[in-house]
Amino acid sequence: MQNFTYKNPTEILFGKGMIAEIATRVPKDVPVLMTYGGGSIKRNGVYNQVKAALQHHNVCEFEGIEVNPTYETCMKAVEVVKQNEIKYLLAVGGGSVIDGTKFIAAAAEYSGSDPWEILTTMGGCLKSAMPVGVVLTLPATGTESNSNSVISRKSTSEKLHFFSPHTHPTFAVLDPETTFSLPVKQVRNGIVDAFVHVMEQYMTYPADAPLQDRLAESILQTLIEVGPKTLANLTDYQARASFMWSATLALNNLINCGVPQDWSTHMIGHELTAFYGPDHAETLAVVLFGVWQHQLAQKEAKLRQYGERVWGVKTAQEAIDATEKFFLSLGMPTRLSHYKIDAAEAAARVHARFTERGSVFGERGDITPSATAAILRMRA
Ligand code: NZQ
Ligand code: ZN
Repeated sequence: MQNFTYKNPTEILFGKGMIAEIATRVPKDVPVLMTYGGGSIKRNGVYNQVKAALQHHNVCEFEGIEVNPTYETCMKAVEVVKQNEIKYLLAVGGGSVIDGTKFIAAAAEYSGSDPWEILTTMGGCLKSAMPVGVVLTLPATGTESNSNSVISRKSTSEKLHFFSPHTHPTFAVLDPETTFSLPVKQVRNGIVDAFVHVMEQYMTYPADAPLQDRLAESILQTLIEVGPKTLANLTDYQARASFMWSATLALNNLINCGVPQDWSTHMIGHELTAFYGPDHAETLAVVLFGVWQHQLAQKEAKLRQYGERVWGVKTAQEAIDATEKFFLSLGMPTRLSHYKIDAAEAAARVHARFTERGSVFGERGDITPSATAAILRMRA
């Protein structure tokens, strides 16, 4: 196990009716900006619950943070923050609203000349950010209790991430009932996103970290158990609650302590969303199996361990096949052809972009732009 620091400053408020608790968490003496997306919170009652909890607060609203939140929209919100002397941000929604709000929090206090630098330096240029509280309505990304944010720029078809200790949410409400209104597709996406988050921190090489391995395997086993249940019955509270908590723990700096990581599936996936538009989780389900197949020799020991412990199979290949079968059983496609994306073209575009940026991924730094192109060609 390598050295690590561990800190998670987000207070989790989990369960039915917990939105009411924000009355005592959101500061009363300063102007607050509540941010949200395209309107789902108005249809499922979450908006009314938040407004009721904050009836004695000074709250402005910013509506319209889109799926794959854009720099362009978030910069409009930064103007609202400045005009209204907002001092606290409350994000109410899924990963996109929360990520957008983290960027707004950072950009509002950024003192340089070009806020896009927050993305190009992956947060390195940040000295501070406004505080952000969260009411989560979509279990998937883990953003409710991590410091990451992924922002897209329309004008250049880029999708980049940043992270900073300053953008860790102060609290996050996770009420599984607020997620009952999610369409099947978003639930399926959430299961796959959480599953792949675990994999990016686990599927590397053995690193003498048996606890981290078993924590990761537990989350995978729980997703395999409750994922199909929550899809089969969209209002089964217990199944949804376990899924929701699994998605949070999958990406909150717990299972990655002191272990090697490989975020290549996410990095390649972000490019597919930026160029072609499939949902975040949809890109992961395509890329993951290409990465594993391409890196079979490097990842063989962990693939075998995962196969034996999670699926009860013997070989690395059987572990890959069992996982793809699981994704397909959730109704998640695993090939580029499903999205009518030409694999050779995608490979060339992503190759060019990673070459230009000098991007190399993988736990051993061997997923070069050429390897990425080969991975994508395998997913035709
Ligand atoms: O915009 P509204 O109207 O709210 O509708 C949303 C949106 O259309 C809807 N929705 C959310 N909660 C709902 C609901 N509909 C009905 N009932 C509810 N309770 O769902 C749609 C998708 O929402 P979105 O927030 O885009 O989904 P998700 O949570 O999957 O977030 C995806 C974004 O997160 C980034 C992705 O790249 C993508 O931009 N990620 C962020 C990460 C992080 N910060 O740590 C890690 C992830 O790997 C990921 O990259
Ligand atoms: Zn993800």
